Amino acid sequence: MADRKRSSFSLALLAMAALAVLAIVAFAPEAARAQAMTYPQTTLEPKSEVARSIDEILDGIVIWVIVIFVLVEGALVVTVLRFRRRPGGPAAKPIHGNTALELGWTLAPAIILALIAVPTVKTIFANAKPTTGDITVRVIGHQWWWEFQYPGKGVLTANELHLPLGKTVALELESVDVIHSFWVPAFAGKKDLIPGRTNHLWFTPEATGTFSGQCAEFCGASHANMYFKVIVHTPEEFDAWVAQQKAPVPAPDSTSLAARGLEVYQKGQCVACHMIDGVSYGMLGPNLNKVALRQTIAGGMFPNDEKNMAAWIKNAPALKPGSLMMNMNLTDQDVEALVAFLRTRR
Ligand code: CUA
Repeated sequence: MADRKRSSFSLALLAMAALAVLAIVAFAPEAARAQAMTYPQTTLEPKSEVARSIDEILDGIVIWVIVIFVLVEGALVVTVLRFRRRPGGPAAKPIHGNTALELGWTLAPAIILALIAVPTVKTIFANAKPTTGDITVRVIGHQWWWEFQYPGKGVLTANELHLPLGKTVALELESVDVIHSFWVPAFAGKKDLIPGRTNHLWFTPEATGTFSGQCAEFCGASHANMYFKVIVHTPEEFDAWVAQQKAPVPAPDSTSLAARGLEVYQKGQCVACHMIDGVSYGMLGPNLNKVALRQTIAGGMFPNDEKNMAAWIKNAPALKPGSLMMNMNLTDQDVEALVAFLRTRR
């Protein structure tokens, strides 16, 4: 009987030890990093000084958590082993508290919280320090897409924030409707876009490539469909991108399908909401001047190809709940012509 008890006890101990090892492996930052390689939208792969300062706080806290876990579980195991009830042993003696212990386990968490708070608050203040940066971009939140304006550069785009490598960008965050939150984990923490005020965020991209971000504040039916990309170029490539965005687009050949699409665009309701240089001046929807150069449409929901563009024009609310772009009941021929026209905007 006693033997069976002992073996089930050792089994429980073994299970606890295995759990402890699992917890340490699962929460160790390096393990998390390796896992993150297959999931690019992560705070664990910082690509700017701001994101790294936040990641370092997390690393520090994870170390504290591991130390506390080992100490508490260790004390638990020792207690279970040394003070468990033995056959023929004396009955347990009830006691009334222990002042030193009570003080200890009240003070220790307070000290640990203070040790976490000091670097956290320091980092918050350091990252909130105003900066003019090397380049300014106005970020405007809309239900449910992102507008990016480059003051002084005459560039206006949507759902794609293009930035030069190694230059500090100062973002001015605004909203035209409800509260959104700008979040691109590789570069910075979350910051709200609030109607009627301008919030600021800055960082310096340290790697070229495409990084994903999304809205991080519930903002209505398609909050979860409000994505964007940050595309970091070398400074030369960035200048070329700006030049390309500003280059005039020749009018479509008068006999082409695209010319017919331009007609549909001008006669229809498109002009009320969208902007195309020399054609229309709507500001409610995304600027379409260079729409064919973008990787995605519909607030980052779909790859920007002819099939998706046609489906989107045909019936946007069917693809994106709450979309403010109405179903305009266009014929398939009109949609096809519109797509042909929009493909020329590059
Ligand atoms: Cu915008 Cu959520």
